[in-house]
Amino acid sequence: MSSKNINSPTNVVGQLIFLILIGNHYYYWAVADSPIKTVVVLVMENRSFDHMLGWMKKLNPEINGVDGSESNPISTTDPKARRILFGDRSHYVDPDPGHSFQAIREQIFGSNDSSKNPAPMNGFAQQALSMDSNMPEQVMNGFQPDMVAVYKTLVSEFAVFDRWFASVPASTQPNRLYVHSATSHGATSNNASLLAKGYPQRTIFDNLDDAGINFGIYYQNIPATLFYRNLRKLKYIGKFHPYDLTFKNDAKSGKLPGYVVVEQRYMDSKLQPANDDHPSHDVYQGQMFVKEVYETLRASPQWNQTLLVITYDEHGGFFDHVPTPVSGVPNPDGIIGEPFDFKFDRLGVRVPTIMISPWIEKGTVVHGPNGSPFPTSEYEHSSIPATVKKIFDLPSPFLTKRDEWAATFEHILQTRKEPRTDCPDKLPTPTKIRKAEANEDANISEFQQELVQLAAVLKGDHLLTSYPEKIGKKMTVREGKAYMEDAVKRFFEAGFSAKKIGVDEEQIVQMRPSLTTRSSTNLHP
Ligand SMILES: *[C@@H]1O[C@H](CO)[C@@H](O)[C@H](O)[C@H]1NC(C)=O
Ligand SMILES: *[C@@H]1O[C@H](CO)[C@@H](O)[C@H](O)[C@H]1NC(C)=O
Ligand SMILES: *[C@@H]1O[C@H](CO)[C@@H](O)[C@H](O)[C@H]1NC(C)=O
Ligand SMILES: *[C@@H]1O[C@H](CO)[C@@H](O)[C@H](O)[C@H]1NC(C)=O
Repeated sequence: MSSKNINSPTNVVGQLIFLILIGNHYYYWAVADSPIKTVVVLVMENRSFDHMLGWMKKLNPEINGVDGSESNPISTTDPKARRILFGDRSHYVDPDPGHSFQAIREQIFGSNDSSKNPAPMNGFAQQALSMDSNMPEQVMNGFQPDMVAVYKTLVSEFAVFDRWFASVPASTQPNRLYVHSATSHGATSNNASLLAKGYPQRTIFDNLDDAGINFGIYYQNIPATLFYRNLRKLKYIGKFHPYDLTFKNDAKSGKLPGYVVVEQRYMDSKLQPANDDHPSHDVYQGQMFVKEVYETLRASPQWNQTLLVITYDEHGGFFDHVPTPVSGVPNPDGIIGEPFDFKFDRLGVRVPTIMISPWIEKGTVVHGPNGSPFPTSEYEHSSIPATVKKIFDLPSPFLTKRDEWAATFEHILQTRKEPRTDCPDKLPTPTKIRKAEANEDANISEFQQELVQLAAVLKGDHLLTSYPEKIGKKMTVREGKAYMEDAVKRFFEAGFSAKKIGVDEEQIVQMRPSLTTRSSTNLHP
């Protein structure tokens, strides 16, 4: 070819196409090369980063944790108010600190004025004091690393994220919904009528299913993922597995699906203590559970293709010193919520997030995403569906504007040519913290009541009352546990029967309430 052709218009076009092809080629190569074929997600309950992991800064100064100089005044309006320093004496916490939308606003901003940027993070002690005189001390303390020995090992062996926030400055349910759908569909707290219908938004499970990638939910008392309406469909019934009977076997025989959700025991009983870390449940049990999940995956033939993500739904009212991002956060889907016409345009408090894989370098600390994919992007729960989309090269569009914006973390899996062979087989056994046995006669907590309400929907019992928000209010933990386990069993049995006789797989089984199987006093106000 003669040189005069080089700058001809056709050649410029040719070069452009060549560059685009190179770009695409590189992209597909990178995706096809992802070593991860199984992502396991475990969402614990209600603890802030500083409370669980802040003191690990002593072990690795690169971690943005605490050194004990952090403090909160007992009153944000009185300049002479006593200040409480952040301590390392966390032990067993009961009762549960405040984490409603209003309580969290006061914790973050020190007042009802949510316009301060950066957020001062100075109202934790004051808000706690309004609940109980001992509570300021409880929320202003964290665990010594040896008290959470399982995390101590995981943080030093794998990756800790020290800038990962709850998606909404609100309680459990909205944040758990963001983990798999990048929106709470307008919820800032439990909404009993939405709950009965099931949250309608599209989820990462739907996107995985469309792409032919299998998923599985390993549940204990009840799968909280059934809050999503779509997951109640007959076509997904076979994706739910009782954890105790199946998780270890599936891992051992290399049969874990591509996306795995492990749900813990939310109900505290003597034989099976709760292990979700929710106050007043013993953090020891949560540590034992994380240890069991890790050791099971570590021993699996799938270990070399596995990523385990451990995060916390929200901070549970415990102090954290890192200002909550209050600007540049996109509303996911245009829905405005209650209270105060909340626009879902600021994040919640920072929570602990740990990632584990033989592809992760020992002692990795991940700070913020440094302006990628958007200048204001942060790590938050929507980062999980955003990264799962990349790891599995899912063709579906983003779920919402929020996962499109959220930072992704696949890069921590891309630094090595082969998986590590030095990952520990076993984790330390933590010391027991709570001395007493579970109190099965305790009243159920708000979160447990929400799970009972979900159970009532599965069983059809919610049709018996015009006050769905009162269902379960009077149950004890023992009654609630029995009620929900029975509901789950019946719902799945009915689902499998319906499938057998060929009912359309897009349908959801609607059970008839059976008056003979429960005490109606539990349902009516
Ligand atoms: C702040 O808001 C709470 C509840 O929304 C209210 O009870 C309280 O009186 C307000 N405090 C001030 C100082 O306005
Ligand atoms: C619950 O959700 C429904 C439907 O989105 C909404 O109309 C209703 O106002 C919500 N209730 C509360 C208490 O937020
Ligand atoms: C994982 O990969 C390492 C390094 O290639 C290899 O030594 C080990 O046997 C593999 N383990 C499994 C369970 O395949
Ligand atoms: C449990 O709730 C009932 C009301 O439903 C109340 O009378 C009782 O004091 C509560 N018990 C505890 C231990 O909080």
